[in-house]
Amino acid sequence: MTETVTNVSAYGNWVSPRLILVPVFLAVISAVLIVISPYFLIPTGVFLLIAGYFLYARHLFSPTGGNIQEQVCSVVMEKLDWDGQGRALDIGCGSGALTIQIAKKYPNAKVAGIDYWGGMWGYSEGACQRNASQEDVADRVTFQKASASSLPFGDEEFDAVVSNLVFHEVKDTSNKVSLIKEALRVLKKGGTFTFQDLFHIRHFYGTPEDLLTTIKSWGVREVEFVDTRALPFIPTALKLPFMLGTVGLMTGVK
Ligand SMILES: C[S@@+](CC[C@H](N)C(=O)[O-])C[C@H]1O[C@@H](n2cnc3c(N)ncnc32)[C@H](O)[C@@H]1O
Repeated sequence: MTETVTNVSAYGNWVSPRLILVPVFLAVISAVLIVISPYFLIPTGVFLLIAGYFLYARHLFSPTGGNIQEQVCSVVMEKLDWDGQGRALDIGCGSGALTIQIAKKYPNAKVAGIDYWGGMWGYSEGACQRNASQEDVADRVTFQKASASSLPFGDEEFDAVVSNLVFHEVKDTSNKVSLIKEALRVLKKGGTFTFQDLFHIRHFYGTPEDLLTTIKSWGVREVEFVDTRALPFIPTALKLPFMLGTVGLMTGVK
């Protein structure tokens, strides 16, 4: 079993409050406009449904709901076949959940987390550092603002590289496959990697088989695709394509 972080509430929620508040706001405007035309009942209902869906999804991801967020993160840990010696990198570390899980599981490891931050989640470098201190791993983890599209590291610096649900969010390149290549650039030959993302989104990655072929063509020694969207703990309500319905995982050895 993977060791989990204890102060889970500090790790935020992948469903930002904005995804609930914006449709509620639009529903209120629409409801006011019903005095002009009863047809505004339709958008009012639609916006309330959207807000309701995201509220429920947020609950499912939270520790007090299904705790799905932590379980999805733990899948990356479980698939990472590493001896814990040396340096690991977490690309798009968010609030540091996975970075800190790695540091806790591997007491000899030094772990770096990078993130662009500033997005809708409200994650920050300060929050990562507070979480690391809270979990007593601050002396072995570092956090830095950087983009996954251009990592601030030399070639082959890390013994393990992970990333969880980040590449599809990167806005400074439309070529998501290039983000995997960049992640593998900083991994040592023989180092291990596990990347989880929405790998079933065709216009980002092609098919998972295409992606496996591309990664192998870069000279990667081993790579395997795991269809994590089929994991039994993922509730049906979260299986929409823009949620976890297109999730998958690439793991291997460079
Ligand atoms: C769904 S969250 C996942 C966060 C974290 N990996 C986790 O498992 O909790 C997506 C993350 O991608 C980060 N992100 C978005 N664009 C990025 C970029 N260009 N480079 C690095 N991180 C980025 C966001 O700031 C956010 O923290």
